[in-house]
Amino acid sequence: MRYQAREVGVDGRVRLVLEGALTARDRVGVQDFVLLENFNSEAAFIENLRRRFTENLIYTYMGSVLVSVNPYKDLEIYSPQHMERYRGVSYYEISPHIYALSDNTYRAMKTSRRDQCILISGESGAGKTEASKKILLYYAVSCPAHQRMASLRDCLLQSTPVLEAFGNAKTLRNDNSSRFGKYMDIQFDFRGVPVGAHILNYLLEKSRVVHQNHGERNYHVFYQLLEGGTEEQLLHLHLDRNPQKYLYLVKGNCPRVSSMNDKNGWKALVKALSVIGFTEGEVQELLDVIGSVLHLGNTQFGEEEDGQTYVTTEMELKTLTQLLGVDGAALTEALTHKKLTANGEEMISPLTFEQAGAARDALAQAVYGRTFTWLVEKINQSLALQGDGTSCRDGSSVIGLLDIYGFEVFQHNSFEQFCINYCSEKLQQLFIELTLRSEQEEYETEGVAWEPVQYFDNKVICDLIEEKHKGIISILDEECVRPGEACDLSFLEKLEDTLGGHAHFVTHKLANGKTRRVLGREEFRLLHYAGEVNYTVTGFLDKNNDTLYRSLKEVMCQSTNHIVEHCFRRGELVDQKRPEMAATQFKNSLTKLMETLMSKEPSYVRCIKPNDAKQPGRFDEVLVRHQVKYLGLMENLRVRRAGFAYRRHFEAFLQRYKPLCPETWPVWQGELAEGVSTLVQYLGYKPEEYKMGRYLVLMNTLYQRRWRRWEGPIIVIQAAWRGMKARRRARRRRDAADLIRRLIKGFIHRHEEYGPDNDYFLDHVRCSFLKTLRRNLPRSVLDKSWPTPPPALTQASEELRQLNMRNMVRKFCLAILPEWRKQMDQKVVASELFRGQKDSYPPSVAALFLGTRLGDEHINLKVVQTLGSEKVQYGVSVIKYDRRGFKPRPRQLLLTGSAIILVEKTKIKQRIDYDALRGISVSRLSDGILVLHVLCEDNKQKADLVLLCDHVIEVVTKVAMMANKVDQVNVSQGSIRFSAARSKEGVVDFTRGPELKVAKGKLNTKH
Ligand SMILES: Nc1ncnc2c1ncn2[C@@H]1O[C@H](COP(=O)(O)OP(=O)(O)OP(=O)(O)O)[C@@H](O)[C@H]1O
Ligand SMILES: [Mg+2]
Repeated sequence: MRYQAREVGVDGRVRLVLEGALTARDRVGVQDFVLLENFNSEAAFIENLRRRFTENLIYTYMGSVLVSVNPYKDLEIYSPQHMERYRGVSYYEISPHIYALSDNTYRAMKTSRRDQCILISGESGAGKTEASKKILLYYAVSCPAHQRMASLRDCLLQSTPVLEAFGNAKTLRNDNSSRFGKYMDIQFDFRGVPVGAHILNYLLEKSRVVHQNHGERNYHVFYQLLEGGTEEQLLHLHLDRNPQKYLYLVKGNCPRVSSMNDKNGWKALVKALSVIGFTEGEVQELLDVIGSVLHLGNTQFGEEEDGQTYVTTEMELKTLTQLLGVDGAALTEALTHKKLTANGEEMISPLTFEQAGAARDALAQAVYGRTFTWLVEKINQSLALQGDGTSCRDGSSVIGLLDIYGFEVFQHNSFEQFCINYCSEKLQQLFIELTLRSEQEEYETEGVAWEPVQYFDNKVICDLIEEKHKGIISILDEECVRPGEACDLSFLEKLEDTLGGHAHFVTHKLANGKTRRVLGREEFRLLHYAGEVNYTVTGFLDKNNDTLYRSLKEVMCQSTNHIVEHCFRRGELVDQKRPEMAATQFKNSLTKLMETLMSKEPSYVRCIKPNDAKQPGRFDEVLVRHQVKYLGLMENLRVRRAGFAYRRHFEAFLQRYKPLCPETWPVWQGELAEGVSTLVQYLGYKPEEYKMGRYLVLMNTLYQRRWRRWEGPIIVIQAAWRGMKARRRARRRRDAADLIRRLIKGFIHRHEEYGPDNDYFLDHVRCSFLKTLRRNLPRSVLDKSWPTPPPALTQASEELRQLNMRNMVRKFCLAILPEWRKQMDQKVVASELFRGQKDSYPPSVAALFLGTRLGDEHINLKVVQTLGSEKVQYGVSVIKYDRRGFKPRPRQLLLTGSAIILVEKTKIKQRIDYDALRGISVSRLSDGILVLHVLCEDNKQKADLVLLCDHVIEVVTKVAMMANKVDQVNVSQGSIRFSAARSKEGVVDFTRGPELKVAKGKLNTKH
């Protein structure tokens, strides 16, 4: 027994896959047609399908396409265990399954972040709807989901029984045939969690409501209601359990189907409606609508002798009016008369017996059809994007799921089959476009050697149907609006005129003898890609017109039943614009659908029907061969086999696989193509196994599996790397959260003692204060700013402030030059002497004290010689006032190391030794008078000196400092007394005035 390597699933769990045990049973034939030896042989292809089918192996791959054969029996392969087994496992490692395809698509969406779609095709009864249900179930069960999304999951699953009850019916081809097309978008958020869904519905086969072919049934819901509804419900609806009593249910003469359990179907429907969120009132109104359709079918008409039509079933009509909530008389009138508007005037004209029957049927179809659309709208509301929309930010993606009606052929085929088969053609066209044509074109553009594979391109049939002006739909539309007697047969004639000679179109008139025998006169035949179909033109015009008499619409607008009222909008009556015809509407909606599908990355499920009898175990080779042929499976296989299933742009390829090669890891510096070659060669691939295109690297399909085995290690490496990054991120977040928590706690306890509750916070606050302080320290001694400290740091902050100040002062002092220091010393003394004392002090502060105001050249040489070794340290011009006459005499005042010298030009007039200086007086005003008091007992001294000087502050400061008589400076508040000659005293008086004036008064000096 062989164990596969350990592998990490998407959810990170390590699991061991017991490959041997799991797939031994599945090794019947080949699991992938690409590995089929005789890949050109259709017989070998079918034999492989048959062998596997006989062993209940209904799925086989063809590259990335999944071929599925309807087993017509329940197989035990859809359990939750099976889902688990396929989760996160590489496509080819385990036996083919619809779950593998689902999982692969899901993972492709998650890794590439590209929208995906799964296209399920095959003829009616081939198993498309079953496949789509399995896919939906897989996503609902195995995608990650949070609690909030549980309801979405339920709604997703429960939408199916509702839509099936109302939109599926038993046909000859399929007991549960979808009579409408369904395209569902499932939206996933960036984590891959399904967050919403949306359903688009396509053309419901409304004619089935009023008519069914033999052996077919109306929509399931009617039978389910009659079979499963409670007595009270039926009583309220005035319905009988026996479906045979309703004319709309007896046409096909097939009230029961063995494979369908209507009772269970009813139970499932009721449950689903409640899960989806229909209120009781809405369910009741819905039942009223269903009941009313049945009563409408039983509404019969009679014909008077004068041709007047009247309603014969009064009771039915009464019930009908009750259920629809409309006015009885108005409804009767509208069923038997029509309103015409001619030249702006309204006219009422009676309907014939046949017209009345047709009007009734049209009403039943309209009511049912519109209610179906309403149902889809309601379901969409409950599936709408959940939450606040944030989940659908960047990175959200979509998986589209298309389950639409399959190609079908009946004895009588009408407008509905025409539309259904046209839709099949379009899907086949899309398949061809995306798999055969584009793939081959890509090889060509990539410059890879390639031998083209021939295939049938059904574009010619699509054009035949949809081409503008020349296509069948255009001709039908024209015929519907053309004035004159247009009818179904005239439409046929028009077709013959326009399309006669087209290789895919034949009518009785155009056909040769052999074909003519099997073609009715009212039929045309289309040679579809999937086979020939004869369409009866009867009813084409009416069905395309899809008109309902205005009077009936008016009555419905008045309905008290909210569903009916919602479906028949009043605006419709006012709108004059002709609505688009049914076929054109359908064509446009299909075009849009194709665009939607083209914009996504497709995966395919090709369903095959093994027999027409809906029996298990029967493999009808002819039938299967036919399907294999028209589905183009052989051509598809040839392209796959010779082709390169795996292709990646160089850049994406390198990005993904570079960890596998030391030369490309972690960064490849050179050309991308070279990097890819290096990587592939390092891994030991031979030239035939891969091709280098212009932009792509391509892996041959046969060797693709070998390549795929790298996916495992790559996922492990990438998962480990991503895990590490995610863990690191998570750790950082956790730490940040812890920090915030501690800070908050600390803040709450910030006023308490330092302790475990607040230590972090307080430390943080302190630290940030110190950091702030460091950035904001005062830059100069004059800057007194200081950040406010937290309470815990007040004292420390103050100490720091002082320290800082001291430091700044020290630095400042150290930086002062000697002469500047002298200047400052003098200024300090000046400040002490005069600040606040003398008016001329403040203006003097800014002016610097000079070293001297008399240069050597200004002092007479004789004076210098007389002074000898005594050096003049300071000199200034002054005015000396005579003691007697108070006459001004210009003098020079010189300061030496020991005395004040008064000089008149060349002569020393007076010398005052510093010791003899008794004091210095100045006034408090802004004058320049200074009095030098000398000791009287000193004989040499004549008397006190009264001087006038422009720089009195400077001179007094210098004299006081040099004579060391700072204490003896007197700023006089009033007059200054001085000793004149011979013990006489003089007084200098000061008064305020606008300018300096010195005059002798009676012993007075005035200022
Ligand atoms: N995988 C399956 N397992 C069991 N039974 C299946 C499976 N697929 C299909 N069937 C059976 O085949 C029947 C028809 O399948 P389904 O309704 O999916 O066909 P279809 O392709 O959707 O046809 P239509 O185009 O008419 O809607 C189902 O009702 C079911 O009984
Ligand atoms: Mg179906």
